Amino acid sequence: MSFLNVNSSEEAINLEAEYGAHNYHPLPVVLTKGEGVYVWDVEGKKYFDFLSAYSAVNQGHCHPKIVKALELQSKVLTLTSRAFHNNVLGRYEAYVTNLFGYDKVLPMNTGVEGGETANKLARKWGYLKKGIEKDKARIVFVNGNFWGRTLAAISTSDDPLSYNGFGPFMPGYDLIPYNDLKALESALKNPNVCAFMVEPIQGEAGVVVPDDGYMSGVRTLCDKYNVLFIADEVQTGIGRTGKMLATDYEAARPDILVLGKALSGGVFPVSAVLADNAVMMCIGPGEHGSTFGGNPLACAVAHAALEVIVEEKLTEKAYSLGNLFRERLNAYIEKSRIVKLVRGKGLLNAIVIDDSEDSDTAWNICLKLRDNGLLAKPTHGNIIRFAPPLVMTENELLACVDIIIQTLSMFEN
Ligand SMILES: Cc1ncc(COP(=O)(O)O)c(C=O)c1O
Repeated sequence: MSFLNVNSSEEAINLEAEYGAHNYHPLPVVLTKGEGVYVWDVEGKKYFDFLSAYSAVNQGHCHPKIVKALELQSKVLTLTSRAFHNNVLGRYEAYVTNLFGYDKVLPMNTGVEGGETANKLARKWGYLKKGIEKDKARIVFVNGNFWGRTLAAISTSDDPLSYNGFGPFMPGYDLIPYNDLKALESALKNPNVCAFMVEPIQGEAGVVVPDDGYMSGVRTLCDKYNVLFIADEVQTGIGRTGKMLATDYEAARPDILVLGKALSGGVFPVSAVLADNAVMMCIGPGEHGSTFGGNPLACAVAHAALEVIVEEKLTEKAYSLGNLFRERLNAYIEKSRIVKLVRGKGLLNAIVIDDSEDSDTAWNICLKLRDNGLLAKPTHGNIIRFAPPLVMTENELLACVDIIIQTLSMFEN
């Protein structure tokens, strides 16, 4: 056995079980290679990837342009820390701010660090600009939110699996129902509220799409009460929902935009917080940072990853393929006993399995999908998320729809 490679899927699974923490419950499949929309397991079986590492691999696995950027930069300079300047950061910052239309960017690494940064920035703005009394700032979140696993993130969570056993929690957070502008208005009346942070479509909650008008309503209310609107587009952003940002569907430009995941095409952990000067300049030298945030390798990778989205028109592809996907699945659902509905935008979709089915059904469907050559994962028991890489062709998507429909049919009687 070589040090790095295993000889079988079974060996890999056993090693992880023995030496790794048991904080995940992966589908039993051991991947060894990825290219575009495909991944291969240790035994050589090929699959369609219908999860894209939770929407991090929008550009497809090992995209040649992104890998090339990684390779070239890795041979020259990888990390300087922000103690010194580097010759890649500024160009990347200019590109990303121009692309998304903000004055400034603050680079971080993981999605949750992006969210954490947005929270700190909003609190600082609250004290400096809104005049909130010291240590009184509050941020409003919605039920079902998910933005990661740090103590701040789980302090806003209403999912016991996320927070149970990890208290005490961070104060200064309010929870209201999602997709409820009345509840938002009464929460924002509290003058200590500095921000409202929300996903334009809730990914981890099971691809929950709010009503049309919700996001523009959020924008209007945040303006009315002088509250910052923070959009967590870590999962929905970068083309996934058929627009560059899911907030682009309405007049709903966020004051603070959080990006992650596909910002690197899944090649490297890269996240970013974007805002205009009035907000971003509230943070000064020494007040926030990260050893790796803004490192030259990450900047080179993210720059290339964003260019791929634009050059290959992946946003437009996600829009049209998503419509086709939901059209086909909806036609199937009309006759289905076990699938209640399909929902989503662009290529971020989910099917909801009938509640009356036992709780293993979604998991068992995913095991059968795997056997039939397509990888997806249940979320919240009876929901299966479908989020393939955006580089998929129409023929590949139709082949995947066939696999999904054939597999679901096996569970109908
Ligand atoms: C909407 C959203 N925000 C933040 C995060 C956290 O990102 P990360 O796991 O990179 O910390 C996730 C992860 O799934 C997410 O879906």
